[in-house]
Amino acid sequence: MSAPPSLTAAVPVNDRTTGGGPVATPSMGGPTPPPVPPTSAGGFLDALLETKSELFRGKREILRDTYVPSRLPHREQQIRAVAEVLAPALRGDAPSNLLLYGKIGTGKTAVVLQVTQDIQRRTELASHISFVYINCGNVDTPYSLLQTIANTFAKSEADRIPTGWSVDRVQSGMCRLMDAKGGIVVLVLDEIDRLVARSGDNVLYTLAEVNRTLEQARLVLVGISNDLKFTNHLDARVRSRLNEEKILFPPYDALQLQDILRDRAKEAFREGVVDPGVVERCAAYAALENGDARRALALLRLAAEMAERDRAKRITPDHVVKAKNRLEQDIILDCCRTLPPHCKVLLYAILQACERRRNGVLTGEVYDAYRRLAERLGLQPLHARSISNYVSELESLGLIRATIVSRGRGGRTREILVDVPISDTMPALEEDPLIAPVGRPHSRGQLLLTNFDNPGRTGPF
Ligand SMILES: Nc1ncnc2c1ncn2[C@@H]1O[C@H](COP(=O)(O)OP(=O)(O)O)[C@@H](O)[C@H]1O
Ligand SMILES: [Mg+2]
Repeated sequence: MSAPPSLTAAVPVNDRTTGGGPVATPSMGGPTPPPVPPTSAGGFLDALLETKSELFRGKREILRDTYVPSRLPHREQQIRAVAEVLAPALRGDAPSNLLLYGKIGTGKTAVVLQVTQDIQRRTELASHISFVYINCGNVDTPYSLLQTIANTFAKSEADRIPTGWSVDRVQSGMCRLMDAKGGIVVLVLDEIDRLVARSGDNVLYTLAEVNRTLEQARLVLVGISNDLKFTNHLDARVRSRLNEEKILFPPYDALQLQDILRDRAKEAFREGVVDPGVVERCAAYAALENGDARRALALLRLAAEMAERDRAKRITPDHVVKAKNRLEQDIILDCCRTLPPHCKVLLYAILQACERRRNGVLTGEVYDAYRRLAERLGLQPLHARSISNYVSELESLGLIRATIVSRGRGGRTREILVDVPISDTMPALEEDPLIAPVGRPHSRGQLLLTNFDNPGRTGPF
C-alpha cells in the first residue's frame, strides 16, 4: 500500500496531513498529479536522493506518518473490533457510531484507514457505502467542516457549496448532496478532540442528528481522539451518540515497537545497512515517550538522515542518539514558540538566570528577573500568583524542573532548574519578536551544550 491513503472510489477524501480542501487521488478517478519536471530544483533533488541513496531502497515516504503499511502488528484486536462495528454496512445496514481513542502514535488512524480500505475493496461494485475521511486538525470552523463533507459529494462545480452561506443552509445543502448519493456514509473525523477544543461540540450534535433529516442516506460517525478524556467535555446527548461503540488503543511497549520498526526498516532500507541495536534503541526511546509509534518511526527516519549526512554506509546506534537529540530539540523549540507571551518572558528570564549561575534559581529571584524583563519590554508584569501558575505550566511541559526547598523556620520556596539545552532554547526565544528587543544579537557558540543521554555531564540540567 502507499500514501496518501484513499478511502473510496466514489468520494474524494481529505489529505491527512496537508490541510486545505479535499484531495482527489488518482485511484478515485480524480486528476493525476503532473510529474515533477526534472528541471525544477525539488524534482531534481528528489530524483537524486531516490537514486543515489546507499541506505534507502524504497521511497522515504515509507517512514512517514502518512504511509499505511500492509501489516499492522499488535493491532489485530483493534482491527477486528473496528471491522465488526462497520461490517453491517456491507449488508446495507447502518453501523453504530464509533469512537477510537488512545494517545498519539498508537495506530488509530492507520487501523481505520486499513479497515476502510479493506471494506472498500470488497464493495467496489456496490455503490452503497461512501467513506469520507477528514482530519479535523485541518478544518478551522464548523462551517468549513460541513462544507468539506458536503463538497466531497458534489458531482460538478455547480453542486459545490461556496463560502458565505449560513450554517443552516450549508447543512441542508450537505443533506441534499448526501441524499443524492444515497446509501451509507461513513464519516471518519480524525483528531475530533481538536475540533471540539477549537469550536465546541455543536457541530457534532448537528452531525449526530443529521439522520433525522436524511432520506436516502444514513450517516455513521467514526471519531478518532488522541485525548483520552475527550468525551467528558461533550454535551451528554453528543456523548451518548458518539460513544455507541468505543475502542481503546493502548500505548505500544518497546518490543511491540521493535516489530513495527523492523517491518518498516525492511521495506525502506537496503539489506544490511541497519546495524544491530538501531531498531532496539529507537523502540526503547519511543516506549519511554508514551509508546508512540510515530516517534519511533521519526527517530529511525532521522537516524537514517544523520547517517546520510555523515556519508556513512550504515545506520548505527550513535545515529539514533543524534536523532533523538535533534528530535527533542525540535519538539522543545516548537513548544517554546507556542507559549503565551508572559510565559515566554518568564522562561527567558529563567534561562538567563540559570545560564549565569549554572545552578538553580529560587522563585523569588525568578519573579524579580521576570518583572525586570517584562518592564524592559513595555509589558505590564503579571502578579506573582499568575507567574507561579506559569512556573507550574513550564514544569508540566518538561521545560523546567521545580523542587521545593526548605529555608529554615518552616519557610519553603521552589528552586527552579532548566530541563532543556539553554544553548538552543535561548536563541530560539530571541528570534521571537516579543523577546528580540532584550535578546542578544551575537552568536551563542560559547554557551552550554547538553547531551540528552548524559545530562549530568554538561551543566545545570
Ligand atoms: N501496529 C502498527 N504497525 C505498523 N505501523 C504502525 C502501527 N501503529 C502505528 N503505526 C505507524 O505509526 C505511525 C503513527 O500511527 P497513527 O495511526 O498515525 O497513530 P495515531 O493516529 O494513533 O496518532 C504511522 O506511520 C503508522 O503507520
Ligand atoms: Mg491519528
